[in-house]
Amino acid sequence: MSTANTRTYWVPGSGARQCAGAPHGAPGWRRVASVVLAALLLGACSDPEPLRWYTDEQVQIGEGVFQAECAVCHGAQAQGSDDWRQRDEAGHMPPPPLDGTAHAWHHPLHELRMVIHDGWNNMPAFGERLDEAEIDAVIAWFQSQWSDAIHEAWLEYDEHGQAGHGPADGSDD
Ligand code: HEC
Repeated sequence: MSTANTRTYWVPGSGARQCAGAPHGAPGWRRVASVVLAALLLGACSDPEPLRWYTDEQVQIGEGVFQAECAVCHGAQAQGSDDWRQRDEAGHMPPPPLDGTAHAWHHPLHELRMVIHDGWNNMPAFGERLDEAEIDAVIAWFQSQWSDAIHEAWLEYDEHGQAGHGPADGSDD
């Protein structure tokens, strides 16, 4: 039942742009040179759409899960509660935005799964209510709200598996 090693389903962006192709048929060194040049150009200007790990189907399923289970606290657009930066007396924070404007993107995928599965301060645990596929789907949905820039920044965290600071710490950077 481990979810730790299920990151094998990257879906390549369909719109990778082709910037330069190696010319065919050029003989000898000119061919080599043009291939090198093409590779350089390709490196410089290929700007494939950032990869997202989930499918459209997961996003669709996740939206239903989110509206049923999460929207009551995090808001229908995952915008968080208005006062999400105001900690309560216990020092805990209200439901933060999950739409990419707050802190959620500092968590690698395994931490996002863990927060949802096990809960965190006033965030309830959903491990009993949602199965692993539903948890992944709901993450897919709120991540689909993230800009490409935020998603790319998140990929860095995900790749390095950085623990960072605890879940939502009130910083928005
Ligand atoms: C009862 C209200 C409530 C519900 C329902 C709820 N959450 Fe939360 N959630 C919170 C609170 C409060 C926090 C902040 C916890 C903390 O950092 O102290 C939080 C934090 C989070 C975080 C960490 C965010 C960050 O910036 O670190 C994620 C991810 C998250 N919730 C996802 C979900 C998902 C997905 C659902 C639905 C399956 C959900 N939550 C349902 C209250 C709720």
